[in-house]
Amino acid sequence: MTDTLPTTVDRAADARVRADDRGHVFHSWSAQALIDPLPVAGGDGATFWDYAGNSYLDFSSQLVNLNLGHQHPDLVEAIQRQAGRLATIQPSMANDVRGELARRISEVAPDGFSKVFFTNGGADAVENAVRMARQFTGRRKVLAMYRSYHGNTTTAISLTGDPRRWANEPGDGSVARFFGPYPYRSPFHSTSPEEETARALEHLEQTIVLEGAATIAAIIIETIVGTNGILVPPPGYLAGVRELCDRYGIVYIADEVMVGFGRIGEWFAFQAFDVVPDLITFAKGVNSGYVPLGGVVVSDRIAGHFDTVSFPGGLTYSGHPLACAAGVATFEVFERDGILARVRDLGDRVVGPRLARDRATARLGRGRARHRPVLGDRTGARQADPRAARAVQRDGGGCCAGRRGRGGLQEGRRVAVHALQPPARGPTAGDLRGRPRARPRRDRCRAARRGRVHVSP
Ligand SMILES: Cc1ncc(COP(=O)(O)O)c(C=O)c1O
Repeated sequence: MTDTLPTTVDRAADARVRADDRGHVFHSWSAQALIDPLPVAGGDGATFWDYAGNSYLDFSSQLVNLNLGHQHPDLVEAIQRQAGRLATIQPSMANDVRGELARRISEVAPDGFSKVFFTNGGADAVENAVRMARQFTGRRKVLAMYRSYHGNTTTAISLTGDPRRWANEPGDGSVARFFGPYPYRSPFHSTSPEEETARALEHLEQTIVLEGAATIAAIIIETIVGTNGILVPPPGYLAGVRELCDRYGIVYIADEVMVGFGRIGEWFAFQAFDVVPDLITFAKGVNSGYVPLGGVVVSDRIAGHFDTVSFPGGLTYSGHPLACAAGVATFEVFERDGILARVRDLGDRVVGPRLARDRATARLGRGRARHRPVLGDRTGARQADPRAARAVQRDGGGCCAGRRGRGGLQEGRRVAVHALQPPARGPTAGDLRGRPRARPRRDRCRAARRGRVHVSP
């Protein structure tokens, strides 16, 4: 627990944190001299605060990992208890919380998924899922979408379609890319979601055939594309991918790092689309990121391959007990507090109707809309936003930057999309409708108050 309060002003601490950060911390995805990270003093639920007396509604759940909000007492207590009992143990030994978390994850996965390989986060989950697919199929190539993010290790960033990949090339050369469906700015000039599904699947099949079906180990897909636009697959698309994978003997990897563990009101997002992949990557929401944790849920068919063949991968901190204790506590909270039902309710009652109302007009303030053209040419060549791509090259694109100034709203900002992805615990229906929280919290969600924040579809 933090010993500062949301309204505490501590200029000395603010200056000290800024000085240490600016002097010594080398930040992700940034030109180091061009950034000014906000010193954060503490957090609680959906709110965090700085040392200057401002508090912020955390509507990006940090990096879309804080599904249970800041400082959940059950998670904090579970970590403290585990630290007092056994703070670490290497992965080749059996450990109670590691085993319990693996069992609980497999219990909420579809039938036929009994095993979990733990990693430190999402990128290495992707890395190891691809490794499993390659070992299992004896093939090397992997197909991924242009509009995608899969992490920053060599294979994961090579699979990534967005401009964060460019400066990391050449990477893993055995990657080919395809266009996923995007009904709003259809790369296939479709006029309906159904047409988009059919054309996107035809394009994917052509890609498979032209890349050489017998060379392709896996297709990796974010079940709902996250940082590249929150793109929900149109009806039938994921089932069609499953069908193509079956036809050509390709492993279907569902990247659930961002959308798993309640983000859309299901344990795994693919469960809302009536499809079953072969490998499931997860991280973030599995324990709200209180201690780094990710992993791969492995179908029995693929796990069986490694019954007598050694898996050529491993990590010192695979299944770290502190991380797993927070994961077990996450399951307890989800089940006790009905988190999945709460998320579905917020979606059905608050966010969904608002989205339906706003869909036609991306309601950003005029100034912001000029800089971040949410609308514009919706199909064809202009569907990629060159300004956003240049921004990513220059400074990482302001990925999930928070608002500056005296309090406000922390939102995800990337490539022409403002994404609101709040924690399941904490924000009130009023917050989600875009009203400021009541005092004494000094949240000033000006953009939300004006009703101009686009909850991206
Ligand atoms: C879909 C997806 N996959 C993989 C990753 C990489 O996860 P990590 O940053 O934990 O390595 C991310 C991170 O945002 C992600 O959104």
